[in-house]
Amino acid sequence: MQTMQFKPYGGLAQLGPVATPIPTPGSRQILVEVAASSVNPIDWKLRGGVLRWVVGLAGFPATPCFDFAGAVKAIGAEVVDFKPGDRVFGMSPLKTQGAAAEYLALDAAYAAPVPAALDDRAAAGLPLAGMTALQALRDQGGLQAGQRALIIGAAGGVGHYAMQIAKALGAEVTGVCSTRNIELVRSLGADEVVDYTQGEPAASKPGFDVILDTVMNRPFGTWRPLLAEAGVYVSLLAKPGSWLQARTLPLYSRQRLRFTAVQPNRADLVYLAGLAQQGQLRTVIDSVYPLAELAAALGQSRTGRARGKVIVAMKAG
Ligand SMILES: NC(=O)c1ccc[n+]([C@@H]2O[C@H](COP(=O)([O-])OP(=O)(O)OC[C@H]3O[C@@H](n4cnc5c(N)ncnc54)[C@H](OP(=O)(O)O)[C@@H]3O)[C@@H](O)[C@H]2O)c1
Repeated sequence: MQTMQFKPYGGLAQLGPVATPIPTPGSRQILVEVAASSVNPIDWKLRGGVLRWVVGLAGFPATPCFDFAGAVKAIGAEVVDFKPGDRVFGMSPLKTQGAAAEYLALDAAYAAPVPAALDDRAAAGLPLAGMTALQALRDQGGLQAGQRALIIGAAGGVGHYAMQIAKALGAEVTGVCSTRNIELVRSLGADEVVDYTQGEPAASKPGFDVILDTVMNRPFGTWRPLLAEAGVYVSLLAKPGSWLQARTLPLYSRQRLRFTAVQPNRADLVYLAGLAQQGQLRTVIDSVYPLAELAAALGQSRTGRARGKVIVAMKAG
């Protein structure tokens, strides 16, 4: 089968096609014929060595991309939830080989049935970014119906799902984006949109119960005045200095500073699939690249300007 592999840490020039044998699924694994995958910033950060201190030394050669959607081709002896032919989507765990390949063998616990409402490309965008948004808002933020949420980076991979999930949870939602993405963010259900190019977004109306920061270009102190008295600020990146702030904040405030690191699991995939099926969650597709052009797809993500998800499709169409 065709797979894309990085040899050592390095730039996108280190990425190339390799022919490898189709993997044989272990007893708890399924073999998926991958129809589509998607790119997340972790794919180019990890292979560039940026996150070496977080995830340790990834094994090389390494296949990037954690998201997949496709069809089950074979199952291990202990797998009872799936059968060959089932449409599935999911996220492979961070320390395993990725989905930028024609076939992927992974533990069945990391996959779920694709909702009929999503085609393979839309489904492939959802797992990593959607679970991150869900876990940040629901689990770290504790977002409840009737509360106010602020999503910083509302047009990005995580942010555009977060806008829709926050609405589905019953929150009043404000999104922060640039001018060109205002209409997109409105279409995701925003009650208010703040254009960060037209002034200081931190001057917005305060009192947010949850602030989800997917951009993390300003310190917590910038956003803190916008938090409600017992509000929670959730960041997707734990910078060393902010660990200390997170630990000391409860000593003098009811506000909280929390971090999230996505945990792939079937229950959350099923939850997201349910939202999609009810018409409450869709994938905005920034662009679609064939597998052979994965380096260009990673490059598009690295611009930091993607609107929704950058998709990698195994077949044209
Ligand atoms: N901890 C975890 O488990 C976890 C999981 C997923 C992602 N992450 C991290 O979270 C970050 C976001 O991931 P992603 O997939 O959402 O990235 P992404 O899709 O590349 O985000 C791109 C978006 O960021 C927006 N943006 C850039 N600067 C902005 C600003 N100053 N204010 C508001 N929006 C801005 C852009 O919109 P405009 O063009 O309108 O500016 C663009 O739509 C990355 O650093 C990623 O590594 C962490």
